[in-house]
Amino acid sequence: KQRVLSGIQPTGDYHLGNYLGAIRNWVEGQNEYENYLFVADLHAITVPHEPKQLASDTYTLVALYLACGLDLTHSTIFVQSHVSAHSELTWLLNCITPLNWLQDMIQFKEKAVKQGENVSVGLLDYPVLMTSDILLYQADKVPVGEDQKQHLELTRDIAARFNHLFAKDQPVLKLPDPLIRKEGARVMSLADGTRKMSKSDPSELSRINLLDTPEQIQYKIKRCKTDPIRGLTFDDPERPECNNLLTLYTLLSGKTKEEVAVECQDMGWGQFKPLLTETTINALKPIQEKYQAITDDKTYIESVLRDGREKAQAIANQTLSQVKAALGYLAPV
Ligand code: TYM
Repeated sequence: KQRVLSGIQPTGDYHLGNYLGAIRNWVEGQNEYENYLFVADLHAITVPHEPKQLASDTYTLVALYLACGLDLTHSTIFVQSHVSAHSELTWLLNCITPLNWLQDMIQFKEKAVKQGENVSVGLLDYPVLMTSDILLYQADKVPVGEDQKQHLELTRDIAARFNHLFAKDQPVLKLPDPLIRKEGARVMSLADGTRKMSKSDPSELSRINLLDTPEQIQYKIKRCKTDPIRGLTFDDPERPECNNLLTLYTLLSGKTKEEVAVECQDMGWGQFKPLLTETTINALKPIQEKYQAITDDKTYIESVLRDGREKAQAIANQTLSQVKAALGYLAPV
């Protein structure tokens, strides 16, 4: 079986973008692959963070992975900081990664502008840590949203460079392929159809979170940005909000784009919004129920993470040893 690897940062609100761009695709493809899915808590401190929140945000995300339908017969779930090989490989790869490759990353430039003078070395190094996450598991496929595409190109470049410099005869690192589903790859903000839905947007109204109550969902959809045009259509560049809301409806209802195009072509917003509200509430309901059922079972979650850590460590340490050998390190005795 081919191997899949992916992760999410434990920073606060898990929203429909994370679900439709990532988690849902992991779940849908899980029988086909051997899956390694983790909580990227080392990435979470690349920008200033709240220590009091980190552990509970991590725990919540693990419970959500399970609530969304990840099945332990196909998937290994673990926490990045529990497997020290991630940090260690990052150092080794840092030393073969040209500085300008990192300075050119779009997300770095965007986040660096926001951080002003507080830009850490870690923020610059973020894509090398992500590269280590992927290469340690010799992943074939990395299912992510559109915003991670450039990071995956960098991962391939670093792997190829390592193999070229240190493992010419027999490659040590596998070059992964991104798995980016067209629909849902870029869920947009409810407040502005030209910006992506994001955990870091200061406005709560810009996103729908997986754990929002029906009342919150209803309120957010009621207040979301629309336009004054009657009749709803996909793919009109003048109507980014319309396209985004129709796409959400399509993905959450399970209908096809063609069906939704016909269903909504004569609708006004007053008719569409309640429909989207009801569909969203119904789509999230089973996830929320399952989440409630498992989140208090600390023993269970801990056992998932203990197993996950052991399985992940076994594979990660093997790759790490191969990398060290290729670099010429004296083996530990
Ligand atoms: P993060 O935590 O920002 O986002 C987690 C996943 O959700 C996707 N996503 C979206 N998809 C569609 N529309 C949106 N508005 C939207 N917002 C977020 C992201 O593309 C991602 O798939 N660096 C990664 C975490 C990471 C990782 C990895 C991923 C660390 N190491 C190794 C894959 C492999 C991140 O910050 O994602």
